[in-house]
Amino acid sequence: MASASACLSLLALSLSTAALAQSVQHTAAAQPAQGVSRIISPSFAGLGIEPSNLFSFTGGEQENELTKNLLQNLVDYTGVPPHIRMGGNTQDYFKWDENMDQWTWINNPDAVGQGAFPTDHMLIGPRYFEALDRFPEGTPITFGLNLAYTEDDYIDQIVTMANQALDRLQNVNVVSFEIGNEPDLYLENGFRTGSWGGQVYTQEWLDRAQAVYDQVLKPRQIGANFFEPAATASTIGTSFEIDNLVTFEIDKNANGTDTSLVAQWNQHDYYYYIGVSTYALTVDHFMDLSTTNNQFLAWEQQIQQSEETPFAYALREMGIVGPIGLVDITDVFGAALWNLNFFLYTATLNITMVGMHMTDNSNASAWQPIRVYDEDPHVRPNYYSFAAFDQIIGPTCQARVGGGVLDQPGDYQGYLAVYDVYQNDQLASVVLINSKPANVSEANKASMVFDLTFDSSLSGEEVHLALLTNDGADAKSGTTWNGISYEDNGDGTPKTVDDTEHTMKIGSDGTLSVDVRDTQAIVVNFGGAVGKRAYNAEACNDLSTSRPEALSPGTKTGQGAAASASESNSASSNTRNNSAKDNGVMRVSTMIVATFASAFLSGFFVLFA
Ligand SMILES: *[C@@H]1O[C@H](CO)[C@@H](O)[C@H](O)[C@H]1NC(C)=O
Ligand SMILES: *[C@@H]1O[C@H](CO)[C@@H](O)[C@H](O)[C@H]1NC(C)=O
Ligand SMILES: *[C@@H]1O[C@H](CO)[C@@H](O)[C@H](O)[C@H]1NC(C)=O
Ligand SMILES: *[C@@H]1O[C@H](CO)[C@@H](O)[C@H](O)[C@H]1NC(C)=O
Ligand SMILES: *[C@@H]1O[C@H](CO)[C@@H](O)[C@H](O)[C@H]1NC(C)=O
Repeated sequence: MASASACLSLLALSLSTAALAQSVQHTAAAQPAQGVSRIISPSFAGLGIEPSNLFSFTGGEQENELTKNLLQNLVDYTGVPPHIRMGGNTQDYFKWDENMDQWTWINNPDAVGQGAFPTDHMLIGPRYFEALDRFPEGTPITFGLNLAYTEDDYIDQIVTMANQALDRLQNVNVVSFEIGNEPDLYLENGFRTGSWGGQVYTQEWLDRAQAVYDQVLKPRQIGANFFEPAATASTIGTSFEIDNLVTFEIDKNANGTDTSLVAQWNQHDYYYYIGVSTYALTVDHFMDLSTTNNQFLAWEQQIQQSEETPFAYALREMGIVGPIGLVDITDVFGAALWNLNFFLYTATLNITMVGMHMTDNSNASAWQPIRVYDEDPHVRPNYYSFAAFDQIIGPTCQARVGGGVLDQPGDYQGYLAVYDVYQNDQLASVVLINSKPANVSEANKASMVFDLTFDSSLSGEEVHLALLTNDGADAKSGTTWNGISYEDNGDGTPKTVDDTEHTMKIGSDGTLSVDVRDTQAIVVNFGGAVGKRAYNAEACNDLSTSRPEALSPGTKTGQGAAASASESNSASSNTRNNSAKDNGVMRVSTMIVATFASAFLSGFFVLFA
């Protein structure tokens, strides 16, 4: 019996090897061609934290060590913490109570607001900002304010909350306010009645933004363009599209200034939403990466609309399945490949950030921060896509990316993607994704050969490979990225579990064939292993001389660079001046220097770990 089955599986192996020796071609240009992205913000791979769940993530009286360590890993990779949006449904329930001293929010016994859940039914106090200030130093924060609340004192309430945020947050860096979560849905949750639409929203938004500018920002010498209008959320075809909001003049100058109140556009999406999406989701479905392009098409139109304005576009809330994931679907390794592809794909669209939404009970969150569902806190496969993306772009402030899903007819259609990553305008990495589903139980997994062609100047060059891998698409633990596990130590710190150096040599004809197993991603890296590549820190310090085209005053590119640079600014509020949208050059060079100078003063070339 035993030998017969061994024979059978050997036969199966040779058959599958013969049958599945498929290959796909890709030519990687040595320098960025037309269409490659702008510089990617080092805070790009970001998070959204549901406000009511903050204490679960950063802790109560005791700090949450898992969250702290997992975020520190990402800081170590890009030099700057990920952008964090503190926002979601519950921002529209919050009311400040100076005397509420608990490490939690509490129900407001005197709630008076309207809505299915009253718009002031959650009280937060000083501990809230203590808990929020635990995020890594300089974390760029978009702080969500309450737009839903409409009692007579609504201006006092929003001004109070904004003041508290800026007064009490010292370690993190509030870079923008979002006023209202998904206002296009306000009729559904009872926050508004009657003729609610983009035009009325614009008036209410301007009213509050102007008041916060007058009473909170101006006294601190912070510029007016500090606010992010929420554009249409779950549906396209509302009067909340970016174009509509522009028509309603949401970008008009703050009174008494020549500056708009708008900092960036803020939009939300989910690949799939329970109760809204009309089909039954499977892992196999989203591992076909072309389905993501199809789902995101409407949002690409919103990005196009933002391109016609001077303001950048941030996808501040995103997830594979909303609102809180799906067991066996979002907590498996297949979701990590989806997530890595999504970061790379949306980086090619020139947006400034993606905020993957986190709740403590979501099976889509990159980690579970507390004990829920009878399970201890743990790291999910998704987290590894943040680590991979951040280590690929590195701390250079110079990463740009091009590429996407390949059009490969046959049974791999939709499952193959290639991204070329440039550093200082030189090809630095090629990311190969083979997302064809293969489960743990599948003994002899097939693979795809990526036949890569490089510029002849790279012939004979040695490359290093880094793998994002696990035993199969349905695995819930045991993922590794670049030989590192973030699960093994138990506290979120990295542990190298496989120190094999994977190297290959580009042929004399400039070609390289890389075999990528189904359900795996491999990064082909130039100039050393991923995370160990030497780079020109001087260029990072002084974007204004190295990339003049990225910083021309008033251009969209300048805005994007300014936005990302302001996100990396951890200095005090006197350098946090968003007022003059035409002086992006000054701001960018100052802020990049402020953030990176101490780390990089020691040498022109540095290694990053
Ligand atoms: C992103 O910006 C670059 C540089 O401006 C441009 O060449 C490219 O076409 C843009 N990509 C998209 C999708 O708009
Ligand atoms: C400035 O004030 C005018 C008059 O009160 C008002 O109509 C306008 O909406 C205000 N602008 C902003 C941005 O609030
Ligand atoms: C999340 O996963 C746990 C098991 O890990 C399960 O008990 C729970 O029902 C899941 N919740 C959702 C919304 O999928
Ligand atoms: C892989 O496992 C998942 C979850 O158990 C299952 O739904 C799917 O059908 C499996 N796929 C294959 C190809 O066996
Ligand atoms: C911030 O901008 C305002 C308005 O343009 C200006 O008056 C002020 O001097 C600026 N502050 C700093 C620190 O640059």
